[in-house]
Order: sequence, then structure tokens, then C-alpha cells
Amino acid sequence: MGIIVRDYHKDYKRWAWQINDNIGFAEDIKMFQLDAKDTSYVFGVIDEGYLIHGYFGKKLSGDDLTYLLRLEENPWVPKTNMRDMGTFMDQTAFEYPCHGTGDYREPCLMVMDGEGMTTCDLRYVSHKVYKGKPALEGLPATFANEDEAETLEITCTDKHTGLEAVLLYTVFNELNVITRSVRLKNTGKAPLNVKRVLSACVDFDNDGYDLITLNGSWARERVLERSKLHHGKQGIDSVRGESSHQNNPFMALVSHNADEDTGEAYGFNFVYSGNFFAQAEVTQNKCTRAVMGINHFDFNWLLEEGGEFTAPEVVMVYSDGGIGKMSRTFHDLYREHLIRGEYKDKRRPILINNWEATYFGFDADKLIDIAREASKLGIEMLVMDDGWFGHRDADNSSLGDWFVYEKKLKGGLKHLVDEVNKLGMKFGIWFEPEMISPDSELYKKHPDWAIQVRGRDMTMSREQYVLDYSNKEVRDCVYGMMKNVLDSANIEYIKWDMNRQLTEVGSTSLPKERQRELWHRYVLGVYDLMNRLTTDYPHILLENCSGGGARFDPGMLYYSPQIWCSDDTDAIERLKIQHGTSICYPASAMGAHVSDCPNHTVGRTTPFSTRGNVAMVGTFGYELDVTRIPQADRDAIPAQIAEFNKYNPIIRTGDQYRIGNVFEDNMWDAWIFVSKDKSEAVFTFVQVLGRPNYRSRRIRLKGLDPDACYKNSETGEMLSGSALMNAGIFVKLDGDFTSKVVHFVRQ
Ligand code: DGJ
Repeated sequence: MGIIVRDYHKDYKRWAWQINDNIGFAEDIKMFQLDAKDTSYVFGVIDEGYLIHGYFGKKLSGDDLTYLLRLEENPWVPKTNMRDMGTFMDQTAFEYPCHGTGDYREPCLMVMDGEGMTTCDLRYVSHKVYKGKPALEGLPATFANEDEAETLEITCTDKHTGLEAVLLYTVFNELNVITRSVRLKNTGKAPLNVKRVLSACVDFDNDGYDLITLNGSWARERVLERSKLHHGKQGIDSVRGESSHQNNPFMALVSHNADEDTGEAYGFNFVYSGNFFAQAEVTQNKCTRAVMGINHFDFNWLLEEGGEFTAPEVVMVYSDGGIGKMSRTFHDLYREHLIRGEYKDKRRPILINNWEATYFGFDADKLIDIAREASKLGIEMLVMDDGWFGHRDADNSSLGDWFVYEKKLKGGLKHLVDEVNKLGMKFGIWFEPEMISPDSELYKKHPDWAIQVRGRDMTMSREQYVLDYSNKEVRDCVYGMMKNVLDSANIEYIKWDMNRQLTEVGSTSLPKERQRELWHRYVLGVYDLMNRLTTDYPHILLENCSGGGARFDPGMLYYSPQIWCSDDTDAIERLKIQHGTSICYPASAMGAHVSDCPNHTVGRTTPFSTRGNVAMVGTFGYELDVTRIPQADRDAIPAQIAEFNKYNPIIRTGDQYRIGNVFEDNMWDAWIFVSKDKSEAVFTFVQVLGRPNYRSRRIRLKGLDPDACYKNSETGEMLSGSALMNAGIFVKLDGDFTSKVVHFVRQ
């Protein structure tokens, strides 16, 4: 069989623009044009029913785009082979490629039928368009109301097995964002095994891109890496059960010339907190296939007759204004359409956390001492970290025993919280709900509740095991204990930690044919519990954490408006960590604290002011024993807090422009946050190392109104936005690790 080449121009009638003009459809030729703010995404259905990709990029205005699907002109289908189906399958740009029919690039879908066959052949059946955006059952996802977005659902089926796949595309009216996910349903008469189901694929028609990813390890998360694409497959993933310290579920393809302010950038971010897969593949024709979704490694999902499976969402952002514009689009999307709850649009309380102050060595009196001193300085909340439950004096016991350790908290939790409240402070508490220590009452009662492979040794990590969150009984039990604690005192914040990765991934409660579902069922279980928690306690501020920033992902942001960025609190290390994090996550979500020196992770001593200036680009707080730090540092806290309060509205809600890049020049970093109306801006400069001949630098600002006049808070000088952005300002600093913040106000 060959492919029918039609003259689409001849058949072309009119685009039928549906609803708000965001999703256009040319009925006679089944071609779709999806328009987000300044972005277009085009694809169509050819006669055989395949969904062929046409275009993704800057907005196209009202042209007849049918030529994009004239296959004989497509560079990736050699003319001579137009009637060769194999060549066609392997070289055409597909919307959602399947395994088995001749496309040898990375497929999105692979399903095994009752005969053990893995060939799948999805063809278009129907589609519908509607206003708004559907929720994804049991999963986090961006949201939008009917005036903000439109959704296209395309139903395809594999006739042979009866597998139905619904491809979901949502376009945002005011943002350059298109989201994608996939819903599978077994409408056949025999069970199917889903071996892989990715959420998005984009087949680009060239390979002229650099790949940007965010990688690292514990205490150095999300360090940006950029490399030129080359033939073959390159990408990142996680097989650890969490999105991971090592690779963030984000990748961008950017034009070779792209920098912060110019060039094209395509960002892909997965709204998921478990095993993921993100890959760019340069093909034989120098085209690029980008795919993203749940990692198929060690994955299998049994789809009984009538069974459904929803794959999590991929957010796709297009920018024609460089990497910076891509980041700002992600920030706007996540602040407005992902983060929820009472604190969504609010300044977060300035907290003091006792982890680096005391580690496990605290009692109620010590915490009250810290709170008393902190309250005098303007700190608003005490967070009691790890070590308050069971009989936990070190990290080797009690996880799962969520009741108060009376030896440490004499008088009980309520007494402590009341005392802290009397000082005018809120109280927050730490949990690690997904874990179980072998030395715990919970483990004695329910050793089978740990994730395990019966008969095998269990790998210990941080002296703990992971609970089987696929089992509702386990979740109910943990939640019951948490509720007892939360209902016993006035708790206003929770830090939800997760300190190890999964091993021996098996469940004592799942049948053998569903064991490989545990990776995903575990994540769904975590989401279920977070959902219950945030629904039952809407006033509690939830902060996620995973040994620092191992689960800094959009999935977690759906439940918690902020995430602890990293256990590395050193201001200089944080430059890289926060720079990388800002590539797709907003400052409003970055947990950042001022800690003591020498820094506990790297041993570096930095000025207190620099620690404050860097932590200010986040949720802000203190992670130190305020009763023991140098008097000068203590004295500096009230002014630091006043400065944070002054600048937080701009940093939390404004536009972020990265100016410096510690990845390229380890000598300095700088950034500016500009309010949406451009009336104010906060500029921060950090000198990493002082150098001869660099006692003054000229820095060009960004994001200001060129025609407006701004007053510099440091010098009192008035300069136009144009001068500040084109000619720049002089920044003079002496010494290593020094920094300054300058406020600009439009006159
Ligand atoms: C890891 C977190 O990142 C730290 O902030 C702290 O909460 C410890 N866990 C406690 O065990």
C-alpha cells in the first residue's frame, strides 16, 4: 500500500475556526491549527488516518497552511520513495508515533496484546473542541477556565486490538503554552499490556538546536547544561521513583544562537513526580524528534477490557525571545495555572527552621528559645524539623510513628505550639509520610507495608524503607496519624520530606500481573494523600522537599506552592542552583533560607547580607540557631526582613530577567525582577570573586520601560529605562562573595 498524495490546495475550502479562534479546523482536509498567544501548532489527518505534524513555532496568520501536509514536498519523505510505506512511516513527522509499523524512531506508544504482539497502529476517528481545560483524574495538571483556554481531543483507535487513544491538546489564550496528555481505553475484548505511553512528541523538521537540561546531584540540583544536538538519541530520565536530584523532568530545544534574550526556545516540562523520560533524537534526515512522558523502563500497565489509563501532562512552551522569555512564560503559567491554595498569591510567612540549628538535638525548651529570639527580630513562623516523633534521636528510627516523642517535647505538642503562638509566631512541622524505619512500631506491626520483593534482602538507604503507597490501607493509616497530630495543635505549615529512592520495587498487595505498575501507582498514592491533606487543611501551607530538591517538579507544585530548593544553603552554590531552577520554575516557589557560616555543606563563609540577598529570590526564611549566631548578624535581621517585605511583591509576581550567568563566568551573577506594569524593579548583583581591574563593572539592565524615567535607590540618579538597559549602570563591589540590591522606581 502506498500513501495517497493529494493536492490539498484543490481541496482546500475554509478553515472553520471554532469557539474563540484558538483552534482552527479545515473540515474537508482534516487539518488543525492551534493558536496560543503568539504561537501556532499545526497538524493534520491524512487519508490513511495518520496524524501528521506540520508546524510548531511563531504564530502564523490566517494563511492556507495545507501545503504543510503536501507530503511529496516534505523534506523527510524522499520523492522517489513516496509509494514506499516503510520509508513513509520512518521519515514522516507524526503527532503520536506507535511502535511496530515501520517508524524506527522513539515511539510514544507500545502495547502488547493477548497474543504477545506489540504492534500498534493508531488512526484518527474523530475529534472535539471545547472551552477550558479538563482535569486529569488522579493527576496534577495545569488548569484554566473557559475564557482562558481551549481544548482539542482527538480520538484514535488501533482496530486490531480495540485500543482507543485520546490525544489532548490545550492552548492558552494569553500564554505561549500548549499542554498535552493522552488517555487510553481498552475497547477490545482482551486485556492489553501497556508497555509505554509517553505524553507528547514533536517532530521538528531540522536539527539546528541545542539541548538544555537541568542536572545534578544531592546539594547541587538543577545545574544547567547545554549541548549541541547530534545524530542519535540524547536525553535524560529518572528510574528512581521520584523526579530526582540527578535530572529534572525538563528539557528545552533552543536555536544555536539563542541566548537569554534572542533566538527560539521550545521548553518541555513534565507535570509528574516519578520516573520520567525526555529525549531528543536526531534522525537520518537531520530532523529532531522530541518526546516526553512516563519512563517505560520497568513499566507495564495492565489494561483490562474497558480499562482506562491517563498519562500525565507535558507543558510545551514556545519562545521567540530567547531562553528568558521561555522562563517567564513558565513562571506565569505555574503561578496562575498550576499553583493553588490560599498562599497562591500571597507572601509566605518568614520562617525559621531548626534543622541546621540543632539537627536532632533539640527539645521544646530549645525550640522556644529559638522562637523567642526570632520573634523579637520579626521572624513569623517556627518550623520544627525532623526528630519530634517516635523515639527519633538520629536518622535510624521512628519513621512511620507519627506521634510525639515525649522525651523531647515535654508537655506535648500543643504546649509547644501554644508557647510559640504566644510569642506571636505561627508553627510548622516536618513529616516524611512516605517512609518507614525498620526500628519503628509501624514496621513491627506491618513489615509487609514496605516496598519489597518477598524473599529478597531490602536495600537500606538513610536507614529507612519506602512505604507501599499503592496500598490504600497504608495511606489511610499514615494519614490517620498525621491527622491526629494536625488536629492536636494550631499547625499552619507542613514540610513534606522524602529522603530516599525506591529499590526492590514490589508490592505485597498487588497481584503479579500488576507489579510493574507500582512505580506509577506509588506516585498516584502520593498525589492522593497530598490531595486529601490540602483538601482537609486548606489553611496549611504545604512545602515539599525531597532530600533538598529531588522532587522540584510541576507535579509537586500543584499541591504545594513552594518546594525546598536544595540542602545546599551556601549563597554562592545557590547562584547556580537557583539560576537553573529559574529556567522553568518561578521564584515564588523556591524554598530559600539564610543559614549560618561556615556553611554546613561546603564550609564557605559569605557575608550575611549576601546570604540574605540570594535567599530573597525565593520564599525566604532562616535556617540557623538565632540564639547563637554573631550579634552583628542578629542585628542585621530586622532590616533584612524589611527589605524582603519591600521587594517580595515584585519578586513573587514580577518578570524575572537573568543578567549574569555563573555557568559562563564564575566571577559574578546578576538578575532583575520587574513588576508587571514596569513601575518598579529590583536588581541584584553578586560578586563571586573579586579580581584586579574589576572593581567596577558596567551592567546592562533588562525588562524596563525604555521610555520611562527610573530613580536608582542607591545613587538617587534618574535615568531612562533606555539608558539603563542599553548603556547600563556601574556596579562597584570589593571582595569575594559581596553583593548589592538596587531598587528602581519609575518617576
Ligand atoms: C532533608 C531535608 O532536605 C532537610 O531540610 C531536612 O529536613 C532533613 N531532610 C531532615 O531529615
